[in-house]
Amino acid sequence: MTRLVSHLQSSVGKKVVMALTGLGLTIYAIFHMLGNLQIFEGPHALNSYAAFLRDMPILLWIARIGLLSIVVLHIVLAIQLSLQNHRARPIGYAIHRYRQASLASRAMTVSGMVLFLFIVFHLLHLTAGFIGSPTSDRVDAEGYRDVYGKVILAFQNPLVVGLYLVGQLGLAFHLSHAVSSSLQTLGLEHAALDRLFKAAGPSVALLVVLGNVAIIFAVFLRIVR
Ligand code: HEM
Repeated sequence: MTRLVSHLQSSVGKKVVMALTGLGLTIYAIFHMLGNLQIFEGPHALNSYAAFLRDMPILLWIARIGLLSIVVLHIVLAIQLSLQNHRARPIGYAIHRYRQASLASRAMTVSGMVLFLFIVFHLLHLTAGFIGSPTSDRVDAEGYRDVYGKVILAFQNPLVVGLYLVGQLGLAFHLSHAVSSSLQTLGLEHAALDRLFKAAGPSVALLVVLGNVAIIFAVFLRIVR
């Protein structure tokens, strides 16, 4: 047990926990996007899906607390590892590789910060309803919370569309590098599968972001209304 704790506190252990939490969040982002795509099937599909998720309050709160803990752990470890990297001094021939690695890690820091700010904005906007028109108490013709109406109203506003697109840019950059490097950190790097793992990050990023952007533009262009 003590060995496990000290392993998790080492920088390799921290990277493993970061990779696992990051992959967990990626899976959430994939399922969230797939669930939201039901907007293309109309209000009944999206609103009854949202009601189904909220119909189990205990499970909902366990999932929310779990998700929040994973996000906090992921960010705390990212800060700790980046401070450790800054303290480590490059020597001799390692300088070039160090510069490359630090460029990649800077891109991860910036995209991670954009993503974090987007998520805070998104929760205040679509979940809590503190930003934008207060629509959280509206119900549709069948008596379900009108999540569909909330999303339609949100993406008819060009400013909201702009902010969401910036968020999607952060998400694209972050996932594209993070998924591949998490698979490598977890030791899943294998000569035969190397190209597959390298392609996994950009592919997952493209899938999630294309799905989200399709929703944003379909509403903005009044294809879905
Ligand atoms: C176009 C893209 C997106 C749309 C249309 C969207 C839509 C929504 C909606 C409608 C809700 C509120 C659900 C409800 O009131 O029942 C929600 C909640 C949430 N979204 Fe998104 N979302 C998008 C992107 C994202 C992204 C990229 C992330 C994070 C990576 C994310 C994370 C969350 C979280 C954590 C919640 C709170 C879930 C809860 O209520 O516990 N969303 N989203």
